[in-house]
Amino acid sequence: MKTLRKLFATLSLIIIISPFIFMSCAGSGSMEEKEKKVEELLSQMTLEEKVGQLMQKNADHPQLGELISRGLLGSILNEPDPERLHEWQKLAVEKSRLGIPLLIGRDVIHGFKTIFPIPLGQAASWNPDLVEKGARIAATEAASMGVNWSFAPMVDVTRDPRWGRIAESFGEDHLLNGLFGSAVVRGFQGGDLADPTTIAACVKHFAAYGWAEGGRDYNTANIPENELFDVILPPFKMCIEAGAASIMTAFNDINGIPATGHVPLMRDLLRNEWGFEGVVLSDWESLIQMVIHGYTPTDKEAAYKAMQATMDMEMASTAYENYLQELVKDGRINEKQIDDAVRRILTMKYDLGLFDNPYPYLAEFPELLDPSHLEAAKQMAIESTVLLKNNGALPLSADVQRIAVIGPLADAPHDQMGTWVFDGDKEHTVTPLQSLREMAAETGKEIFYHRALPLSRSQEITNPGAILSDVRRADVVLLFLGEESILSGEAHSLANIDLQGAQEELVQLVAGQGIPVVAVIMAGRPVTFEKIEPLMDAVLYAWHPGTMGGPAITDLIFGKVSPSGKLPVTFPRHVGQIPIYYNHKNTGKPATYDTWMHIDDIPEEAVQYSLGNTSHYLDYGFEPMYPFGYGLSYSTFELRNLALEKQQIQAGEVLEITVTLENRGDVEAAEVVQLYTRQLFGSRVRPVKELRDFQKVKLTPGQQKKITFKLNTRDLGFHNPDMEYVVESGEYHLWVGTDSRSGLKTAFEIKH
Ligand code: NOJ
Repeated sequence: MKTLRKLFATLSLIIIISPFIFMSCAGSGSMEEKEKKVEELLSQMTLEEKVGQLMQKNADHPQLGELISRGLLGSILNEPDPERLHEWQKLAVEKSRLGIPLLIGRDVIHGFKTIFPIPLGQAASWNPDLVEKGARIAATEAASMGVNWSFAPMVDVTRDPRWGRIAESFGEDHLLNGLFGSAVVRGFQGGDLADPTTIAACVKHFAAYGWAEGGRDYNTANIPENELFDVILPPFKMCIEAGAASIMTAFNDINGIPATGHVPLMRDLLRNEWGFEGVVLSDWESLIQMVIHGYTPTDKEAAYKAMQATMDMEMASTAYENYLQELVKDGRINEKQIDDAVRRILTMKYDLGLFDNPYPYLAEFPELLDPSHLEAAKQMAIESTVLLKNNGALPLSADVQRIAVIGPLADAPHDQMGTWVFDGDKEHTVTPLQSLREMAAETGKEIFYHRALPLSRSQEITNPGAILSDVRRADVVLLFLGEESILSGEAHSLANIDLQGAQEELVQLVAGQGIPVVAVIMAGRPVTFEKIEPLMDAVLYAWHPGTMGGPAITDLIFGKVSPSGKLPVTFPRHVGQIPIYYNHKNTGKPATYDTWMHIDDIPEEAVQYSLGNTSHYLDYGFEPMYPFGYGLSYSTFELRNLALEKQQIQAGEVLEITVTLENRGDVEAAEVVQLYTRQLFGSRVRPVKELRDFQKVKLTPGQQKKITFKLNTRDLGFHNPDMEYVVESGEYHLWVGTDSRSGLKTAFEIKH
């Protein structure tokens, strides 16, 4: 606690949250008008009504209508029917004593009706502008149905593909999580929350939910304080700086303290140091789960803890409803604390413009699934697909006539949407099979389709003989493998992340016939497939690509566009390598291929091996299958002329870095140029590489471009052993490359 306090003191010096952030979401009136309205309401409210504002209930709650009419409910979630939403809102505005409108929450995670790729896939686009555009579209569609609050973005940094919710994250890097999270915040909220096409964002899960031990959802997060501050918290801060209206707490405990009652993290850091004035919402019953965690003996104590932590609104459970008034009467909670929470909720309602227009259904909204929305979803699916392997099989030439389309994900309209889809309909999905058939009909090609496995996890291949004979008469095999959507997402962690069911056997069945095999993998996480990778001539990793996955994949396969996605997460060779991530520390005994002692090289008669080797696994070595930032293209790019404006720089200054990128291939393509640094020596050991910036650049064949990065040395700091944020003097290495493993290298020095 002492260190935390010291840290907060330091942070208060370095974190300056602009007041504009909060003003930018201000609703229809001036600041004074807003305050006047909110204070007027507060002064008229009974304690019971105040507590009611702190409650969020599921739409199927039996007393919903009554509670709303009596002014005893602040928010509802999970009501999909716009007519009913309208009724609930009407009750709140017209029937309740003070006419306070409802916050209407929904998990709008990667699209509303038009489903975009899962967030992990979106991160693979390395294109925050596109992600912002997708969130803008999702907000427009959701708002047109009466939703005014989305429970996204999720910026939980994770290093564990076993964790089912990795699908919903932006991967293993905190900068990517922060950049994509803030893009979603901007997309949802636009410039003005009161605009009826915008909805409030809710950044989640505060904090360390992605650190679940063993990747098992909801598990405890044990994390050193410095990593909490250097890796987990920065994306939240970036989203707050982007103007996020609200934050959701996490289910897990952090070093033994449940996140929903975490006073140092919420009251002291989020509120007092970062100055966050928005709403903090619990996760579903996470407040009363403090009892199950073994942190508070009763729900009443849990309510007390959460209030102390400044947790404003309780999702689904009823500890606030049941005990807050009692806690005030007992003198343990000051009514002012409740007023503060209510004030934040009323302010958000005001900012959303709900007091002026509680029914933001606009006839002039673009239709759900408007063609422009579908086009954006297709573009995102294209840009998020990563080409992992290509021995020249892709793109397919126009001469290819007979195509064998095989696999459980070729025509799985529901599954390709991915996890967390409440409002998307599979009827609107275009699968690869549909899209390929359409293309074949136009061009006279033939498609031979076999689902082969009813589900990705099915153990038996249907009709292998027929599959084989169709493979033999095809020019190419397109294998659609992966996971159904149900295998990732909340509470859907896996201990085995290999391709499930008989998919490996399926690959073995179709390979070796002299026909090129192109695999398209659709999954909610990195899956491991090292054993069968040599049997594949090309691999496209499409994640769960959403509504327009089919047309996007068809365009990629036939080379209408080049793949440009890059991995936002390291792909292990084997599940036992986890955690494996690019920004690890060096150790005192880093491995090389020379020192890797492979299990097969251990002589059979050996009983004792010599000591003093390096940090690796006997069986799986030390390298991943594919590194962070990796992804191939149909073109080839050259980077050259890496230059620094200067070799020595004062801490706090901005270092300008230039490099030239040239497209040396035959096709137009985009490349993601990535900037990494390493501090060689520090008061704490620093990671071997850290992503600092990137640019996605599209070039025509032969075209070159000078790229400039401006590296702010203020961002190169970390929390030292005294938990002070410091940018230390000394030598730094710098790489500019097209993945985290390679690149041009130079060095610079920071002086104080
Ligand atoms: C629980 C999930 O953890 C959270 O992310 C989601 O927003 C809520 N349920 C509401 O569905």
